[in-house]
Amino acid sequence: MAMEQLEQFYDDLSRKYTELIKKCVPRYSEMLFNLFLYLPESFKPKRIIDLGCGTGNLTQEILNHFPNAEIHVLDLSEDILNECKKRFPQAQNITYIKADFKNMNLEPNYYDLALSSIAIHHLTDPHKIRFYRDVFQALLINGVFIFADQTRGISDDIYKKNISCWKEEAFKLGSTAENWNMWMEHQDAHDYHSPVGWHLRQLENAGFHEVDLLSKYLMWGVFWAKKIQEKP
Ligand SMILES: C[S@@+](CC[C@H](N)C(=O)[O-])C[C@H]1O[C@@H](n2cnc3c(N)ncnc32)[C@H](O)[C@@H]1O
Repeated sequence: MAMEQLEQFYDDLSRKYTELIKKCVPRYSEMLFNLFLYLPESFKPKRIIDLGCGTGNLTQEILNHFPNAEIHVLDLSEDILNECKKRFPQAQNITYIKADFKNMNLEPNYYDLALSSIAIHHLTDPHKIRFYRDVFQALLINGVFIFADQTRGISDDIYKKNISCWKEEAFKLGSTAENWNMWMEHQDAHDYHSPVGWHLRQLENAGFHEVDLLSKYLMWGVFWAKKIQEKP
């Protein structure tokens, strides 16, 4: 799959994205809430990055929790980044970065907190492995990486059950057959779901400690990984 196709998909979807995603992902607000739930009160991140920001649904939560932090938001799609920019016209503390996860060139030892929601599954497994190393390098010691993403069930049966439950819930949320078919075509072309255990192992291999699955509903997991020391 050529990366331009994925970029084009999100460029084309950019204006409708916020409305469509809320009708598609079950317990979406709860998932975004859970990304912050385990951060201690004393944790006051100065620099935060939102990886695959889309139209800024997670960015909005970051602003709610940490209004004074320096916030970097990164995405592959120029048009979706523009939608994100339009959403936060007053925020002077947001820097918009157009980049591919495969080639982010992030400043090493820079961020206290790296966050991402439903974006990493667009990378194939070898690219996820590199991405986790890149995020690890970009974090300061004691920096935390928390992300929500779609995962693959450990067996085909579990995976299929998750998809059929998801379909039922998406329709209850207001998705139409046309919306559902659009997401399924997108999934077949652009998505690479990996099992929870695989993610946890790769995060540890990248150098993270305190690696955990914080919560999970159907195929949506929220992961935690902390950088305690430089990778030996
Ligand atoms: C499903 S959207 C999620 C957006 C937002 N985080 C949210 O929760 O609504 C996935 C986002 O990841 C971005 N993305 C996908 N692959 C990427 C890549 N290789 N590099 C950078 N961004 C990517 C897409 O452009 C899209 O905006």
